[in-house]
Amino acid sequence: MAVYLPEPYRIKMVEPLRARSREERGKAIEDASYNLFGLRSDQVYIDMLTDSGTGAMSDRQWAAMMQGDESYAGSRSYYRLMEVCQDLFGWSFFQPVHQGRAAEKVLFPNLVKPGQVSLANMHFDTTSGHVMLCGGRPVDSVLAEARDPASLHPFKGNTDNVRLRQLIGEYGPDRVGMIVITVTCNSAGGQPVSLANMRETAAIAKEYGIPLVIDAARFAENALFIKEREEGQADRSIREIVRDMFAQADAFTFSAKKDGIVNMGGLVAVREDEELMAGIRRQVVPNEGFLSYGGLSGRDMEALAVGLEEGVDEDFLRSYTGQTRYLVDRLVELGVPCQQPAGGHAVFVDARQILPQVPFDRFPAHSLCVELYKEAGIRGCDVGSFMLDPDPETGEQPEAAMEFARFCLPRRTYTQAHLDYVAASLQGLLALAGSIKGYRILSQEKILRHFTASLEPCV
Ligand code: F0G
Repeated sequence: MAVYLPEPYRIKMVEPLRARSREERGKAIEDASYNLFGLRSDQVYIDMLTDSGTGAMSDRQWAAMMQGDESYAGSRSYYRLMEVCQDLFGWSFFQPVHQGRAAEKVLFPNLVKPGQVSLANMHFDTTSGHVMLCGGRPVDSVLAEARDPASLHPFKGNTDNVRLRQLIGEYGPDRVGMIVITVTCNSAGGQPVSLANMRETAAIAKEYGIPLVIDAARFAENALFIKEREEGQADRSIREIVRDMFAQADAFTFSAKKDGIVNMGGLVAVREDEELMAGIRRQVVPNEGFLSYGGLSGRDMEALAVGLEEGVDEDFLRSYTGQTRYLVDRLVELGVPCQQPAGGHAVFVDARQILPQVPFDRFPAHSLCVELYKEAGIRGCDVGSFMLDPDPETGEQPEAAMEFARFCLPRRTYTQAHLDYVAASLQGLLALAGSIKGYRILSQEKILRHFTASLEPCV
């Protein structure tokens, strides 16, 4: 039986939700050209589009915001944030930026030159985008188990280090600008990377003199999974494990909108390379603002300083990843196929298995999300072929390895009753699955088209 862990907090402020009628939802999604990003949030009942920037801040975070120092240079809030970062990660250089992709924007041009490749377990879509903007090419080498939703491998986000070595051999070490480890591995289902695997990847990077970068968006959940699933780690604190994870890398990018539990914010950090720090500073001043705020207000930095500490609290992490596990367990009990074992921030439903009649270029995961919205007012998103842009030369639609419909859990936001409603609604959809024919794209942009494309239902 699925078990729900009681939350280690109680509710002090609420935001009302209103469920629309089936008719209103049908009209809303038609008006949005069948693109879930086109909906107004008040047309959504339970919003699981993303866990990014959508969590609930604590009373301590709101109180800290009142102490924000908005000085242009040398803000007290900046120094407070620096202290928390140093204490947590053990490095000396941290640069605030406005969100994760801004960290990519100011770091990557220092590492990836035109014609080079970036090797990762999996690049997130903005990460790939910034590698390409530098004239580089992103190449993924996640474990094969990540692509098998039924495999119960405990660390499906691991880099396939045999493949990594092969790729370095094929391209030649001089053509590899950086190696990236994304923790947890979002695109594979929020799946964790083990400490042993990170150490192996780091040893390879060191052997070839290639910089190792951690995409740290969900580092705290990854640390909890290491504690729970990796041999010899059970008695260590989350902070000790975090220190070990970051000891492997040369730099990291961080979207604080996830494990920093803030609505907006990010960091880029360097362990010891002074030249790299100088390169980042040169990018930050013209793009993000002066060094002591980097695109954030003083109050944002205060909220992040507190959020970082709350984000590594073990009780919180157990409860948060426990919600994901509860929803996965409920879905499996009800016969809804998902990526297993449960990952960190989201449930990834295997749309290919539910809608075998919908071909990849009619977007099974997108179709499942649209129908679920119409039936139940729940908003998820496609992490499958709809998310992949057509080949820029041939215009052909690539087929994704996995057709996942992703339902994210914003931190500290929804309750067990909401999750039960989501599970029952997905189960209800199974009965309608046979009648779903997919969606066709009517118009789209060339890059990151899934945010704005217009679609129509196939008949
Ligand atoms: N890296 C990872 C692994 C991410 O999941 C994201 C964002 C980013 C980088 C970029 O960070 O949004 O602050 O610029 N992921 C969100 C999501 C948008 O819904 O998965 P950002």
